[in-house]
Amino acid sequence: MQGLTGKVVVITGGAGGIGRATAEVLAEAGARVVITDIDVAAGTQAVEALRAATGGELRFEPLDVADPTAVTALSDTLEADGWPVHGLMANAGIAPTSPALDYSDELWSRTIDINLNGVFWCCRAFGRRMVERGAGAIVVTSSIAGLGVVSPETHAAYGATKAAVAHLAELLGVEWASSGVRVNAVAPGYTATPILERIQAESPDTFDEWVSRTPLGRLNTPHEIANTAAFLLSDQASGITATVLRADGGYGAR
Ligand SMILES: NC(=O)c1ccc[n+]([C@@H]2O[C@H](COP(=O)([O-])OP(=O)(O)OC[C@H]3O[C@@H](n4cnc5c(N)ncnc54)[C@H](O)[C@@H]3O)[C@@H](O)[C@H]2O)c1
Repeated sequence: MQGLTGKVVVITGGAGGIGRATAEVLAEAGARVVITDIDVAAGTQAVEALRAATGGELRFEPLDVADPTAVTALSDTLEADGWPVHGLMANAGIAPTSPALDYSDELWSRTIDINLNGVFWCCRAFGRRMVERGAGAIVVTSSIAGLGVVSPETHAAYGATKAAVAHLAELLGVEWASSGVRVNAVAPGYTATPILERIQAESPDTFDEWVSRTPLGRLNTPHEIANTAAFLLSDQASGITATVLRADGGYGAR
């Protein structure tokens, strides 16, 4: 990955799954990686393990992306510490399922708070510094569930947030294009992370259906999504902004 050496990249939800794999790819490319997550134990462990594995410069910062004050405070802290943020992967997310008529107010609102509002708070806080500096790159994690209706899941809130953040990437990508800040979305297909492992255990028939609907005939690996996100954050994607890139084994082909 070109152009990432010495650059600070923040990853939200970086303690596990896709975010952690992206932290590894970026650290191997020479980036200074800030893993943030609400799960302090897993985030701390991830940083220690990735430092040992890559020899890279990584730090962990606890963060609830649904708290806009905390997001702004982290942006200020990193700036004050000499970690000027060049890249952001707004990746933290939850994937609850519920029949639409059974959604509690709390579950609906929490999904929107983390998956949509949290992405915007991060884009706003970290994007502000990038726009001021005239350089930066942002990737938000959408999903195939944001580009079409995937079945048999019932996850109206999740799908709605993933559609919203895909469009948000296009909106911000266009708005900040003249400021030197690129904004794109990656839309993973079914990817072998803890979210899916839990669903595989709870509902094997659903899991088998996902695989059968994926032309590659398997789940994506977290590192396949990580490579896609790292590419979009790197200078190799210098001509790409306001785009949604599927990394889904062909699931979303029309
Ligand atoms: N795994 C898949 O198949 C798949 C497919 C499409 C999209 N995605 C998206 O990829 C992203 C990463 O998911 P994953 O599959 O790696 O799952 P994961 O559960 O391993 O990672 C999600 C991370 O987000 C963190 N998180 C949750 N709430 C948070 C909050 N309020 N503030 C900060 N961090 C918080 C979790 O602690 C966790 O570490 C999510 O946005 C998910 O919707 C995943």
